[in-house]
Amino acid sequence: SSIPAPSSPAASVWSAERLAQQLIVPCMRYYGICVKDHFLGPHLGDRIFEEVEVLDQRGKFRGGQLVSQKGIPSRSIRGDQIAWVEGCEPGCENIATLMTRIDEAIMYSAATGQLGDYAINGRTKAMVACYPGNGAGYVRHVDNPNRDGRCITCIYYLNKNWDVTKHGGMLQIFPEGKNVVANIEPVFDRLLIFWSDRRNPHEVKPAFATRYAITVWYFDAKERAEAKEKYRLATGQKGVQVPVTQNSRT
Ligand code: OGA
Ligand code: OGA
Ligand code: MN
Repeated sequence: SSIPAPSSPAASVWSAERLAQQLIVPCMRYYGICVKDHFLGPHLGDRIFEEVEVLDQRGKFRGGQLVSQKGIPSRSIRGDQIAWVEGCEPGCENIATLMTRIDEAIMYSAATGQLGDYAINGRTKAMVACYPGNGAGYVRHVDNPNRDGRCITCIYYLNKNWDVTKHGGMLQIFPEGKNVVANIEPVFDRLLIFWSDRRNPHEVKPAFATRYAITVWYFDAKERAEAKEKYRLATGQKGVQVPVTQNSRT
């Protein structure tokens, strides 16, 4: 048959291109925020969830850190536990597939030439985050307030039967200059995309059940290069690369 099976790479690339052109690009241009439900389907979503649970059971999660505030307990700002995943680790094969699928969607979006002036040339590792359900959230913040190079935030949610009225954990985005709030429920198999800069301040409301999400940030080549240059000048450590995947987030 010449019709690709739904799970073949050809089909996912084809659907990524369509997703990019029909949803991501227009939403990002108009709202700066985009939500795609049923991003991977329940089968792959379940497998990703299982991998995340195993990471949690094996104690791979650590308290979320704010780089600029070392020494200050960050619990009051963000109460999540995080683990960084590159994708090649054993037991992370399905998380790696998620990263590939998000890469496809973002690169097809960028390839339209309609995502502003960005030249996307890389991304962070995946940050797997767990809010343990003790009422912790993440106070209002901007992911990239100071031009650290990150231009797009992508968050994939893993929470089945999530009821915000009982479990809280809503993500609220307050788009700059607009008198609206985007209420995003962290529901299973949902992909959220938004500009990482000051256009999108956001907060995670207190969560009262285990709340899992996986985040990747995409870099703009020019802004990232400038950020690295600033870092070099500030420290005099010529040629030292910032370990971007671990310490550059808000
Ligand atoms: C950082 C940072 C700012 C904040 O973690 O690198 O800039 O919101 N944090 O605390
Ligand atoms: C973050 C963040 C939102 C969410 O980790 O920076 O804003 O819904 N997460 O988990
Ligand atoms: Mn954030």
